[in-house]
Parts: sequence; structure tokens; C-alpha cells
Amino acid sequence: MKLSHLTTRIMHPQQVAEVSPQLRALLQLADPHWDLISIYLFRSDLLLLEQNGIPVACLVLQDLGDREYEIKNIAVRADLQGNGLGSRLLREAIRRATAAGARTLLIRTGNSSIGQLYLYQKTGFRIRQIDTDFFIRNYPEPIWENGIRCRDRITLTMDL
Ligand code: ACO
Repeated sequence: MKLSHLTTRIMHPQQVAEVSPQLRALLQLADPHWDLISIYLFRSDLLLLEQNGIPVACLVLQDLGDREYEIKNIAVRADLQGNGLGSRLLREAIRRATAAGARTLLIRTGNSSIGQLYLYQKTGFRIRQIDTDFFIRNYPEPIWENGIRCRDRITLTMDL
């Protein structure tokens, strides 16, 4: 696939029925909990990279008010990861939040998401807050990644 030929689209889904199975699978790569996704998705902008109308990467950008925006979800189809699509979506989210007058852009992840922490810091986000044991308090099953138990929620922010 020629990655330069992917098209970018902004979508404003109003209801679950508008979410295709491919998009749902993508969103659940970043967050397995559909009940949580379905709360924030319909209050957010959805940035899509598509091939022939099929989403292959997505980013959910929510306006939190008070000139603060949050990237709630970012995902790239597994076979296309590592080709720069995630970085491309992050840059686009920064551009859109800046154009909308945002002061701060925020993204959250877990302590065990080493690659994501690398990518977000490389893009310019800085660690601002650690919510200790967040994932133990809020998720019924233990989460393991990179041989590390996911316990703490890390909030990174960027001043725009
Ligand atoms: N492990 C190791 N390195 C990584 C990872 C990872 N999981 N993800 C990105 N990187 C590195 C790449 O190696 C690359 O490094 P380089 O610039 O030095 O070569 C850099 O980060 C940029 O990578 P991209 O190719 O732009 O990232 P990609 O297209 O793979 O997208 C993403 C990154 C979205 C995290 C993707 O891997 C993915 O969908 N992962 C599964 C879902 C997920 O974890 N989403 C984030 C959850 S948190 C949230 O949604 C707020």
C-alpha cells in the first residue's frame, strides 16, 4: 500500500449506527472498552486516514472546554503500525487544536505503554501527572504490556 495515498477525513458520528466494524475495531485497539468509547466518541471530532473509504488509522479529539483539548484515542491498523501514520495523526490533531484556539493539548496512557510514551514525548508532549493505581482501581482484569503491569495513568500535555 502506498501510504502517501491515504486520504484524511473528519467525521462527526452522531450515533453508534454510524460506526463501521472496521472503525470500531480500530478504536478498540487503543481502548477495549466500547462503553467508554461510545461516551466520548459522540462528543468529539474523529480524524480518519482512509484507503478506498476504509479507515486504517483514527484519532479522537475532544474539546474539554476552557481552551483545553484531549486526544482520547489514537490507533493505527496493526499491519500498518510503524510507518509514520500515528505521528501524522498527532501532528494533524496539534494543528487542528491550535487552529481552534486551544491552549493545552492533553493525552493519557498507561505506565506500561513504553512505545506510546516514547512517541508522545518525541512529538512534544511532557509528563504532567501520574494517577497512581488508576488501572487497578478502574479495570477488572490485570493489564500487562512489555512485561510490565499497567497500574498508573500518565497524563502528558503540550502547551500550544
Ligand atoms: N512500541 C515501540 N515503538 C513505537 C510504538 C510501540 N507500540 N508505537 C510507536 N512507536 C515509535 C515508532 O517506532 C516510531 O519511532 P521513530 O520515529 O524513532 O522511528 C515512532 O514511535 C513513531 O511511530 P509511528 O509509525 O508514527 O506510529 P504508529 O503509526 O505505529 O502509531 C500508535 C502509533 C497509534 C500507538 C500505534 O502503534 C497503535 O495503534 N498502537 C495500538 C493502539 C494504541 O496503543 N493506541 C494508543 C493508546 S493511548 C490513547 O489512545 C490516548
